[in-house]
Order: sequence, then C-alpha cells, then structure tokens
Amino acid sequence: PDARPEITTAANSPSSAPVVLEADRPADVVAFVERIARLTTPDQIYWVDGSTRERHALLQQLVAAGTLTQLNPDIRPYSFLARSDERDVARVEERTFICSEREEDAGPTNNWMAPEQMRAELEPLFTGSMRGRTLYVVPFAMGPIGSSMTRYGVQLTDSPYVVVSMGTMTRMGSAALAQIARGQSWVPAVHSVGAPLNNGQKDVPWPCNETKYIAHFPKEREIWSYGSAYGGNAILAKKAFALRIASVMARDEGWLAEHMLLIKVTSPAGKKYHMAAAFPSACGKTNLAMLTPTTPGWTVETIGDDIAWLHIGKDGRLRAINPEAGFFGVAPGTGISTNRTAVDTLWGNTIFTNVALREDGDVWWEGLTDTPPARLIDWRGEEWTPDSGRPAAHPNSRFTVAAHQAPSIADTWDDPEGVVIDAIIFGGRRRALAPLVVEARDWDHGVFMGATISSEQTAAAEGTVGQLRRDPFAMLPFAGYNMADYFAHWLDFGKRLRRSARVPRVFQVNWFRKSPEGKFLWPGFGENGRVIEWMVARLESEACIDETPLGGIPRQGELNVAGLDLPEEDLTELFRMDTDELEAEADDVEHFFQTFGDKLPAELRHQLSHLRSRVRAQ
Ligand code: GTP
Ligand code: MN
Ligand code: MN
Repeated sequence: PDARPEITTAANSPSSAPVVLEADRPADVVAFVERIARLTTPDQIYWVDGSTRERHALLQQLVAAGTLTQLNPDIRPYSFLARSDERDVARVEERTFICSEREEDAGPTNNWMAPEQMRAELEPLFTGSMRGRTLYVVPFAMGPIGSSMTRYGVQLTDSPYVVVSMGTMTRMGSAALAQIARGQSWVPAVHSVGAPLNNGQKDVPWPCNETKYIAHFPKEREIWSYGSAYGGNAILAKKAFALRIASVMARDEGWLAEHMLLIKVTSPAGKKYHMAAAFPSACGKTNLAMLTPTTPGWTVETIGDDIAWLHIGKDGRLRAINPEAGFFGVAPGTGISTNRTAVDTLWGNTIFTNVALREDGDVWWEGLTDTPPARLIDWRGEEWTPDSGRPAAHPNSRFTVAAHQAPSIADTWDDPEGVVIDAIIFGGRRRALAPLVVEARDWDHGVFMGATISSEQTAAAEGTVGQLRRDPFAMLPFAGYNMADYFAHWLDFGKRLRRSARVPRVFQVNWFRKSPEGKFLWPGFGENGRVIEWMVARLESEACIDETPLGGIPRQGELNVAGLDLPEEDLTELFRMDTDELEAEADDVEHFFQTFGDKLPAELRHQLSHLRSRVRAQ
C-alpha cells in the first residue's frame, strides 16, 4: 500500500487532504483506469494525490523535458514558461464534437457525430497512444469539496503539463478521490497528446498530434480528448466538463452551468451585491472579475473569472459557485494600467504559456507595459525586437494561477453555499449598435439578450479574428446540447425563480464601441465600475431609465462620468441607436433564430416581434 506521509500545503488541497490508500481506491475508478491502460498501453500509471511535493517533482520533470523554462526566481518566484507547438495554441472548435444519440440533440451550433462512429474513430487513435509515457490518474472536484453544488471527475492524461495545470485550476487529488470513494458520482475523462514514444525515442518539448478530437458523450457523461495539450482542449475539467457536460447535467437536474464571471460589489454605503456576467472568450471576463473601480468608495472582489454554476437555493434565491480553483487568463492586454490586480496576482507560482521571455528571465506580453523591452525571445523561441513586425506573445497566450492568489479574491469565493446573485450581465465585443449598457425589461427579455449576444471573433479560438458572430450566452462553443433547448431551459428557470423569490435583474454591456476613426469610445477597464455603480443604483431603485427599442438606458446625467475625459458627443454616441442598424439587427437575429427551426421557444419569437414594433415606434 501507499505509505507516503500526508503532505498538506498544495495550492488547492485543503490541509486535511486525506491519503487514499491503494486498497481504498474506488473500484469503478480502478476499473476505468485498467480499461484505458489496456487500450493506451502506457509505461507506468501514477495516481495523483495533489500534494505540493508531487507538484514540485512534476515541475522539475517538465523543466528537464524542455516543456517548461523556469523564470528568474528573484523576479518571479516559482514560475514557469511553456512554449507550445505552434499549431497547438487555441481551442479547436472545428474538432470539438457533441456525440449525442440524435443529431438534433447536439443542435445546429455544435459539430455532431454519432457515438458509435466517434468511438470507432477514437479507438485506433488511442490504441497504444500512451506508449513510452506515464498515464496520470487525476481525480478532481469542481467546486468546494463537500458542497452540494460540487461535481467530481477523474481525468486520465499522458501530459504532466496538463496535470500541473489541473492542479491549479481544480481541487485535484486525494481529497476529491476520497469523496468519490464515499459514493459521489464522477465524470470520466480521457486525454492523450497522441504522441507515443518508441523505445529510446527522444521526446519533443510539446508533444501533440496533427489529428485532434475533443469529443463529448452527453448521455454517458464522458469526455475523450486527443492530439492537443492546449488548455481549453486538454484541461478537461474546464470547458469540456464544467461547461459542455455540466450544461447537460444542469438541464437534467434543474440548474445552470454558464460561461460567467462572478463578482461581489460593495457600495460606499457598505451594501453588498453579487453579479454574474457572460461575455464571449477574450471579451473582458477576467478583467471585469478583477476590476478596481476608479470611483471612490466602491469595491469589487473576485469570486470567479470564467465559469459559474447557478442553482436555486433552499431560500428560493439564485445562488452561484465558481467551480474552478484557478484562473486561466488571456495574457495580452493584461497590464499595469488596465488590470493591476491581475498583474499583482501573477507575482509568482504561475505557469505562463506562449508569452515572451525577457533577457532578465522574466516574462513580457503586449500590453503588460506600454513600451516593449528592446530585446525578447518571442513565444516561438525566436529573437524579437520591437521592429520585428510581429507580436512577441501569442495573442491567445495565457497565465495559469491559483484563485486565492488574487489580492481581490472575496472571502466568500469558496463558500459551499454559493453567493446570492442580484444581477446578470451579458456582453460582447461590438464596434457599433450595442450601447454601453441597457437593462432588460424582465427575465424573458434578458433571455432574449443572452440568446442574441454577438461579438467580433477573437484569437481565443481558431477562426477569422474580427468577424461578427452570434455567440448566445457566450456559450456557442460550450453548450453541450441543442442551443434552442438551452434557451428553453433558461426561460423555464426564470419561471421557477418567479414562483419562489426575487428574480435577478438582467443587463447588457458593450465596452468595445468604436468611433468612425476606430478608437474605443469608452475608456473601459477600471472605469467600467461606473456602469456597475449605475446597475447598483437600479437595484436600489435610485436610478431611472429611458426606454429604447433594446431596453432601458441610463437617464441623462445618471451615469456617473464625473472626472472622465469623455466628450459629450462620445457619450451620446455610446448610446446611439440608428433605426436602419436596428432593423438590420432584427433581420440578422431572425436569420439566426431560423437556424433552430421549430425548436426555437415561442417566447423568443415574441421578443423579436416586440423589438421590431419598438423599432417601428421609435
Ligand atoms: P476567456 O478567458 O477566453 O473566456 O476571456 P475573458 O472574457 O476572460 O477575456 P479577458 O478579460 O482576458 O479580456 C481579453 C481582452 O479584452 C484583452 O485584450 C483586454 O485588453 C480586453 N478588454 C477587457 N476589458 C476591456 C475594456 O473594458 N475595454 C477594452 N477596450 N478592452 C477590454
Ligand atoms: Mn472562457
Ligand atoms: Mn478569462
């Protein structure tokens, strides 16, 4: 039996993390490990306990393998840089599949493949795929260990980079395995980089495969990922489990699994509110989650920056937890002037992927400082100077850091009961039409807002950057079932909330509106606190709205812009709604809704005709 002593200081393991003896490992997990080991034929099997000592050993091993470079410990203690293969830098939406029995259950927004066909395609790929490598058994909890909202999983992977990333992003190791041993159900996830090694063959720093599959089996609640080690494709607890599979669990069990940040807002009067916000990838969730308001007396604290699970609590109120334990944030654009809190969070114990390396052994990326260093090694490992004419860090380069390291973390961030949500915010990146802020008339109108989020595409996924696409609820790449059924689930959820207690207010924001010259009209970042301030005034019934076709906007003079260098015409422009543009928008929404056919809930059709009649009446 495993006789190692208890090691207690792992970043995300509670200090009482039990050691699970080999004899006490749950039989169903053992059977799963044996089955996958027979298929993938690894050299060794290692059960991850989540301890600090284990993490240290894995990090040393990754440095020796060339996957990680340790940064200068005097500047950035215990931190590392990973350079990925240049073809493995973002989520691969084209290779992401929902393998429901019926195609219509995956819906028009997902790639679908029949489960038997997918299994037939995966089988030869996984056969022997771990040869020459170690199979790591990674038990993890999504949510505080022991919370009724928490769900469990076991990922098998042949990537030690994925193991250390899972160690930061989840509550990984023995504490989670002990819960599974006590009977908690768990989601099986299998991951291989797809790069078996022959006897004596030298490994590459970032093994991966040109062929990639990120496959989800919603009925069996199972995940299979092949060929990539990039976070969103390989850290399966995150997008694959906590959003795609969890959204299916949430539909069946009556809760919501969402691509949302969570914040706690304290007003100058000391009143506390919690807000959840859904923006598409690389549209400002991590930034808003770590907001430092510029207006005196206001505080924003972080609860989560990417994923929220929302339930109706025993008190009938909407409650949310952050199922994750770390931040996997976009590095570029994260700077001292834009997000000081994030920069402070990254002081040490951080893994950076695909950022640039400084001569002094620290890291740099576009936007960290205004002036780039004179010389760098870029994300590909090549010499770089400001004249190189290419970015030094990959636009989707990321940091991986424990949540508790954020100076802005709320003391309630891991409360097993979750926090009560007072407002829900939707947003996207749109250079025109979408105003700085609007308030929904009610929950159903809010669902319409969420369902019609559109955004210019970013580098977070492969595709054409800048192209406008509908990203309903910021869940386009993450809903594990038919998006129209997902809309219906949201509408139904609102009915349940109305029956029991207070329904949260719903808002929509757009920080990205541009002038005809292409400059951002709104200063954004810390100044977004002014919009939050107005939302709080609405919650406290101390602010008024002017009705517009899109919803209620702040009555003239109610948005606090004191001290801002914001010309009056820019402020007007931030809320301007052109009738032609509104009509084009309604047409585009109608076109988008048509893709769902009969499955589209009638309520959303009503909302669209409301919009049309409001535009006509304008
Ligand atoms: P994922 O983690 O991929 O889901 O994305 P995210 O929503 O957390 O995105 P993040 O907060 O990392 O924002 C990414 C980009 O948005 C960066 O380039 C930021 O500079 C930019 N950004 C964030 N907030 C603002 C803002 O208020 N105004 C402007 N103009 N840009 C912003
Ligand atoms: Mn995200
Ligand atoms: Mn983020």
